[in-house]
Amino acid sequence: MDDELKEPKSGLTRRGFLKGVGGGLAGTAVLSAAALTAPEEATAAGVKALGPGKVPIALKVNGKTMKLEAEPRVTLLSALRDQLDLTGAKLICDRGECGGCTVLLDGKPVYACMMLAVDAQGRDITTVEGLARGDQLDPVQTAFVQHDALMCGFCTPGFVMSVRGLLNRNPNPNLDDVKRACAGNICRCGTYPKVFEAALAAAKLQKGGA
Ligand code: FES
Ligand code: FES
Repeated sequence: MDDELKEPKSGLTRRGFLKGVGGGLAGTAVLSAAALTAPEEATAAGVKALGPGKVPIALKVNGKTMKLEAEPRVTLLSALRDQLDLTGAKLICDRGECGGCTVLLDGKPVYACMMLAVDAQGRDITTVEGLARGDQLDPVQTAFVQHDALMCGFCTPGFVMSVRGLLNRNPNPNLDDVKRACAGNICRCGTYPKVFEAALAAAKLQKGGA
């Protein structure tokens, strides 16, 4: 099989994600059925019924607990962008295909458009807004700037978060590792070579190299 088509070993990929979504959708179906079931029936079935109206939600985003109210059907991406004013993660395909909405959940990249906000409670969520420390950019952000790793820039936050997730689990990636980590992100401008270059440079920067 062509190397490009092999199942990647790690990282966020559309194929791997869709496998995971199978389970996620099943979970969503349970939630939806529960929402339509009388509360006492749902409780008897051991399923906590939520909604269909707004419910209180607490999300830990970039180290701070943020409270909001939203219907259980609201995605994490929508909660971040529309209610918490964190618009770094982009709404592009809204169906788990482009990676523009990538955020970190407990340090690992996920598509925020494919996760319900209620399910993200109790997890550590990091958005691109949470990477810099004051004026000090994250090494991934610095490397993207230094290596001119963007054209229109719309996909860039998603790539930055995927690369950040990679360096969290592997501080010494090679080019193949970088490609696998970015396999779930699409750049319509075709900036891939520069993104890969920046990711490798970020690994060096993070270790104190130039
Ligand atoms: S907007 Fe989430 S994957 Fe495209
Ligand atoms: S830089 Fe334009 S979509 Fe990636």
